[in-house]
Amino acid sequence: MALTVEQRFFLAILVIAFPFSAISGDPDILSDFVVPPGTNNTLLDGNFFTYTGIRPLVNSTPPTNFTVTKATMVEFPALNGQSVSYAVLQYPAGSVNPPHTHPRATELLFLTYGILEVGFVDTTNKLFTQRLEAGDMFVFPKGLVHYQFNCADNDSAMAISAFGSAAAGTVSVPSTVFGTNIDDDILAKSFKTDVYTIQKLKEGFPPKA
Ligand SMILES: *[C@@H]1O[C@H](CO)[C@@H](O)[C@H](O)[C@H]1NC(C)=O
Ligand SMILES: *[C@@H]1O[C@H](CO)[C@@H](O)[C@H](O)[C@H]1NC(C)=O
Ligand SMILES: *[C@@H]1O[C@H](CO)[C@@H](O)[C@H](O)[C@H]1NC(C)=O
Repeated sequence: MALTVEQRFFLAILVIAFPFSAISGDPDILSDFVVPPGTNNTLLDGNFFTYTGIRPLVNSTPPTNFTVTKATMVEFPALNGQSVSYAVLQYPAGSVNPPHTHPRATELLFLTYGILEVGFVDTTNKLFTQRLEAGDMFVFPKGLVHYQFNCADNDSAMAISAFGSAAAGTVSVPSTVFGTNIDDDILAKSFKTDVYTIQKLKEGFPPKA
């Protein structure tokens, strides 16, 4: 059976696209796990695969501002090469996790208590929003701008997010744009406003020295 021109075209696209789909997560490793250089494997035990850095949050008083506690390969080296990581997100009433992206991972957020308004914007500029209740999950597709807001008057919220990378990375939109010394004129033109407005916005995001 001969293939039509369209069928050949789609076949060609599939063949071209397939190798890229296979490298969409962290690179595969050629060992069971990766240990830091100089590690004596004989001494390796369950402790290397255990992270206790989240323990202090259990039964602690909720923070007074939005707080992220990460368990990425930086804090938990055994994640290196395993394509997973976690973050614990604590939201006092009225607090926001400002618009940001994770360039290397999808985020799967699980709301453990409280309520949360969440949203992301796709590459066609369409906004998807949801109001989550405790026990709900929401997926933020890889690389897209997203946010979370605790809209409650009085109650804090807590979520646990899983990432499909040991080093998902975070790019915060406000501090990337206004906290990195991009020229005022360039920002004024980009945001269709004046230099004074840009300078006012920059006051909230002092550049790191
Ligand atoms: C690794 O640890 C074992 C057990 O303590 C020890 O016998 C061995 O000499 C160590 N190897 C190296 C390369 O340090
Ligand atoms: C957040 O709150 C903690 C105490 O809960 C405080 O130490 C810290 O400075 C606050 N951070 C900001 C950016 O306000
Ligand atoms: C918030 O909680 C405090 C302490 O429980 C209570 O006194 C206050 O009335 C609450 N405020 C609102 C807006 O629910």
